[in-house]
Amino acid sequence: MEYLTFALAKGRLADQTLELFEKIGITMAEMKDKKTRKLIFSNEELKIKMFLSKASDVPTYVEYGAADIGVVGRDTILEEGRHLYEVMDLGFGKCRMCVCGPASAKELLKHQELIRVASKYPNIAKDYFYNKKHQTVEIIKLNGSVELAPIVGLSEVIVDIVETGTTLKENGLEVLEEICPLSARVVVNQVSMKMENERINRLLYDIKNTLK
Ligand code: PRP
Repeated sequence: MEYLTFALAKGRLADQTLELFEKIGITMAEMKDKKTRKLIFSNEELKIKMFLSKASDVPTYVEYGAADIGVVGRDTILEEGRHLYEVMDLGFGKCRMCVCGPASAKELLKHQELIRVASKYPNIAKDYFYNKKHQTVEIIKLNGSVELAPIVGLSEVIVDIVETGTTLKENGLEVLEEICPLSARVVVNQVSMKMENERINRLLYDIKNTLK
């Protein structure tokens, strides 16, 4: 039997994913050790390998078949636009992709004005403004703490993830428009889906029953 390789997005999602896998009998004891510098782990009995990577790299590993299966947020899947199958919504990591800014920016979104939009998600922002709203905007790519942009005058609005809304509130910003809901998803390599169909479907079936 060949190994099935899993790529998990580092951070909050990974912890919840490992918990879920434990419930269906997939244990990766070494992976829970936060101090380990090891990059890849295996369960010899189940013939499973697992590794953590930066969220934005998960779709890349899966598209190229370096991982058969990935668990990553829908935000990353949309932003990366890779060729893979998105097969299941895990229901955790729920949040929303939104256009946010000061209340005063609301008007700018109504009148097709040429505004600046800062985001860690330039492709999602571009798709939303160009294809859905038909508004020409300037997209400015940032790598984190995006809420700073409208505060210091880098942009009029941002496109970012809103979970509890606390970051916005504490910085005098608000949700101006909602783009789409987000949550953790299972993605599968297109060739693996055919070659390992039985094992992957069994796994998805087990996950589905646990999520009920
Ligand atoms: C995310 C997101 C928001 C925040 C939203 O940032 O970009 O900043 O969480 O959460 P809230 O609505 O519950 O306040 P993250 O913590 O991933 O860090 P980053 O700002 O460096 O991207």
